[in-house]
Amino acid sequence: MKIALIHNLKPAVKDSSLPPDYYSECDSKKTIESIAKALEGGGHTVIPVEADRNLPKWLAENTVDLAFNIAEGFLGEAREARVPALLELLDIPYTGSGVLTCALALDKWRAKQIFRSQGIPTPNFQIFLHPDDPVDSRLHFPLIVKPNCEGSGKGIWASSVVRDAQALAAQVNIVLKEYGQKILVEEFIEGTELTVGIFGNEALPVLEVDFTNCAPAGESFYSWRVKEFQGNEELHLNPQFACPARLDAAATHAVQSVALKATRALGCRDLARVDIRLSQDGIPYVLEVNPLPGLDPEESNIPIMVRAAGMSYEAFIHRIVSLAVERSQKLSTSSIPSFQTNNRVNASPRRRALPDSMEKQPGSPGKPALALEQEETRKERSKEEDLGR
Ligand SMILES: Nc1ncnc2c1ncn2[C@@H]1O[C@H](COP(=O)(O)OP(=O)(O)OP(=O)(O)O)[C@@H](O)[C@H]1O
Ligand SMILES: [Mg+2]
Repeated sequence: MKIALIHNLKPAVKDSSLPPDYYSECDSKKTIESIAKALEGGGHTVIPVEADRNLPKWLAENTVDLAFNIAEGFLGEAREARVPALLELLDIPYTGSGVLTCALALDKWRAKQIFRSQGIPTPNFQIFLHPDDPVDSRLHFPLIVKPNCEGSGKGIWASSVVRDAQALAAQVNIVLKEYGQKILVEEFIEGTELTVGIFGNEALPVLEVDFTNCAPAGESFYSWRVKEFQGNEELHLNPQFACPARLDAAATHAVQSVALKATRALGCRDLARVDIRLSQDGIPYVLEVNPLPGLDPEESNIPIMVRAAGMSYEAFIHRIVSLAVERSQKLSTSSIPSFQTNNRVNASPRRRALPDSMEKQPGSPGKPALALEQEETRKERSKEEDLGR
């Protein structure tokens, strides 16, 4: 296939007039080259494309079979949903989660409201629009102050954990000034830092992050500095990873089950990473879901879990493509109501058919796609119940 690898490149030299974390969510050259190499190894032609203002024009002028989307965008409340929205408009199949999921997951507050409605544990929280907003009396210090719609630890520093109302107001003020968006204030969960990859419909081995080594740097959780300088021993920003996590089987299953539930609650597809704090009394609190997790083959969390699962990086990347292709095939079957089919055909005369090798129907031949989806949902449910036991 001809695959557009849509990304936002982290520049080699940062513009010193921009904030130090401006490019933190972008992809390194190494990540882009690693994904491209893996795809090319599978016989695909890969065209890396920057997700900037020129992307709509590029997509209009070039025909591709699939987009491999890793672009997180800059600024704006739904920046991670822009590329999926554009690809939907142009009827180009793409990897990963859709528009609504990417927008919802980026808005931690809205995502937490959904977790709450589904009985998924998440730290108690309050949104601040002003430093003087009164603190909800049900919130217990220590609290952590975070910008509501950022990632890669942006706006999360050692000073983000506050122990009284005065420190809270001061920190809210700083983050408001810096990020100009809603501020999410949560109860700080003491305990174990865990993160879980969801790949297809399965949870990968749980990854535990231990910050003991970072104590001399004054960092005791996955702050921006720990993420940005991860592995730097001189700065004492070298957390230790354990994958699988040092948990017993029951705790592992509970954590994986809650991670699966969180991704289903937001409607994630193909891959996602769920960040969890396991409290000292054994409750797995979901902090957030990342539908566009980092894919650096060595440093990112998900590739560590993939290795622990015994899968190569290349096989992992190929499977992401297969999941997207299978979905695209299902959507183009006759079981889709005709008004949708008509819309798709009318809206996208440019779309190329997928090559024959990718045209295989998932599941048993002859079964309508809707029935297959229902069957899969049943299988997923029973898997989830198994995990919960
Ligand atoms: N309520 C909390 N209790 C304890 N630690 C927390 C809490 N919220 C955040 N943290 C710490 O801060 C880190 C970053 O928080 P969070 O995952 O919300 O930010 P992010 O910028 O979206 O991260 P990512 O890099 O995964 O996109 C967490 O991994 C955890 O170490
Ligand atoms: Mg996180």
